[in-house]
Amino acid sequence: MKIVVVGTGYVGLVTGTCFAEVGIDTTCIDIDQKKIDKLRVGEIPIFEPGLEEMVKRNTQKKRLHFETDIAKVLDDAEVVFIAVGTPPDEDGSADLKHVLNVAKDIGNHMSSYTVVVTKSTVPVGTAKKVNEAIQKQLEIRGEDISFDVASNPEFLKEGAAIEDFMKPDRIVVGVESDEAKHTMKQLYKPFMLNGHPIIFMDVPSAEMTKYAANAMLATKISFMNDIANLCEILGANVNLVRKGIGSDPRIGSRFIYPGIGYGGSCFPKDVKALIKTAEENDYKMRVLEAVESVNEHQKTILYQKVENHFGRENLKGKKIAIWGLSFKPQTNDMREAPSVVLIKRLLEAGCKIAAYDPVAKEEAREMLGDSIEYKSDQYEVLINADCLLIVTEWSEFRFPNYRVMEKLMAQKLIFDGRNILDIEKLKSLSFNYHCIGLNAHKLNGSLELVEVM
Ligand code: UDX
Repeated sequence: MKIVVVGTGYVGLVTGTCFAEVGIDTTCIDIDQKKIDKLRVGEIPIFEPGLEEMVKRNTQKKRLHFETDIAKVLDDAEVVFIAVGTPPDEDGSADLKHVLNVAKDIGNHMSSYTVVVTKSTVPVGTAKKVNEAIQKQLEIRGEDISFDVASNPEFLKEGAAIEDFMKPDRIVVGVESDEAKHTMKQLYKPFMLNGHPIIFMDVPSAEMTKYAANAMLATKISFMNDIANLCEILGANVNLVRKGIGSDPRIGSRFIYPGIGYGGSCFPKDVKALIKTAEENDYKMRVLEAVESVNEHQKTILYQKVENHFGRENLKGKKIAIWGLSFKPQTNDMREAPSVVLIKRLLEAGCKIAAYDPVAKEEAREMLGDSIEYKSDQYEVLINADCLLIVTEWSEFRFPNYRVMEKLMAQKLIFDGRNILDIEKLKSLSFNYHCIGLNAHKLNGSLELVEVM
């Protein structure tokens, strides 16, 4: 089987490489010649654990190819994935310009039956537009070639994308013909060996599934952030509440970790787009509007804690150390990262910032310029710092050397936006510790009361 994946962004590159890994002849297309040249020699534009080795291995085995010209490779491709970007328009709706340009190219160059699959996250109704765009070009050419458009949303998490693709919880495919269903089943067979299901449905339902999944997860996070803020006010401990509710399988223990708000390329964009789609159809997504507003508020919560501690008038010149810049660990992605909102607020208040992130330094510099100092060591940022802010829960921040920290810092003061540090240990070393959803100073006795008998 031969397939083509158009767009070598995060989704396209992971998709193409994983299909090649199971032996499918895959060509990845991108209009960016420089990017393609680099990919051909195994240089990948993103940080994703395991991806670089996989690209190199499959390129060497000649199962994975990189090209700029779609016309050259459409001839014998059975399936073409559209995985180009759908950036949000100013009003929050997804911009389909790139998707429809690819559809036009496919219509211009296809020569036999092809299944065209939308892989980018696109609003309900996009597959229909893709279908129309292809059909229009075929009519201009005077050709009568049959094709299908299918929708196959991705559920990849950055940092765990390869594992997610190779061992999916489920594969969702929207199809409109038995032929397309058969082709997609053949394509995904190697990934279903461990019993994970492929769920076939109609195209609009598949398109909606992606938005509903991300919106539900974003809702869990915002709900938990709201609960956390109330726990703090009422003297409860959200860490315990989370364990208490998460043990109910109807709720589940995942995606209920409070923090400083969700970011990344998916949740913020998809929540906005779904609100917009509903609006365009005279419906109001009341829950999602609240989810978004809680998230905006949560991004400012760490700043608020710092301001409350020092007093706004005393922030000027304060030396702030930051651990973590990317929107989550295991990625260099800075899109919609809560760190950006936090840092801007601190800078406005006159703080001086030194930050460390294991991989996102250059990406952060592109966004924040030289307004802050970027260090290459997590302890270097602490020298004479008035406080430390933990922004991303990279593993290396979980068990730091507290003895070294107290020697380096001007004040033993930590604001932990991800609740990853050991509260008992910090208390015993007399650190002043603030986190999300509990007040470490007010709580009496042990902070970890959960015991499973
Ligand atoms: C998400 C979806 O998980 C994935 O299925 C979809 O395909 C793309 O969007 P991703 O954006 O890579 O993946 O990151 P994810 O691990 O889901 O985290 C998203 C955000 O939620 C991060 O900012 C993270 O810090 C935050 N989060 C997650 C929480 O604040 N609390 C949690 O309990 C979980």
